[in-house]
Amino acid sequence: MALERTLSIIKPDAVAKNVIGQIYARFEQAGLKIVAAKMKQLSRQEAEGFYAVHSERPFFKALVDFMISGPVMISALEGENAVLAHRDLMGATNPKEAAPGTIRADFAESIDANAVHGSDAVDTAKVEIAYFFAATEVCPR
Ligand code: PPS
Repeated sequence: MALERTLSIIKPDAVAKNVIGQIYARFEQAGLKIVAAKMKQLSRQEAEGFYAVHSERPFFKALVDFMISGPVMISALEGENAVLAHRDLMGATNPKEAAPGTIRADFAESIDANAVHGSDAVDTAKVEIAYFFAATEVCPR
């Protein structure tokens, strides 16, 4: 088992629903520790930069518009196999396809407002954590 870190974003729809605590409880119950956290209103430039890999996809503008529609809660999580463990907790990208009991099944309405983001790999997680957090803002290992 590998001790990993991953980036979590609780998106504007879930923040507006006031379920940050319920989502954090799921992380903690699964053994994931919050090692950095900040609430932030993303600028368009920040959101476009974060999702730059998707810039050619048809939903890019809708995704950016949604991500700047209200504050987000950004966290770095640490735990055994944290990347996969977090993705399992989130469920499928489309909430209609998400397994019962997952965050997206329970809190998301649609693929374009799907409650949470999680890094897809350890290397991506390092880049994504550094995108939002200075080294001094993350608990030392
Ligand atoms: S993946 O695994 O990253 O390739 O997932 P993917 O399905 O390609 O989605 C990439 C991100 O885009 C969001 N998404 C959408 N936003 C708005 N409208 C539509 N139709 C749509 N389809 C996908 C999806 O939630 C992913 O965002 P994150 O923040 O990574 O979850």
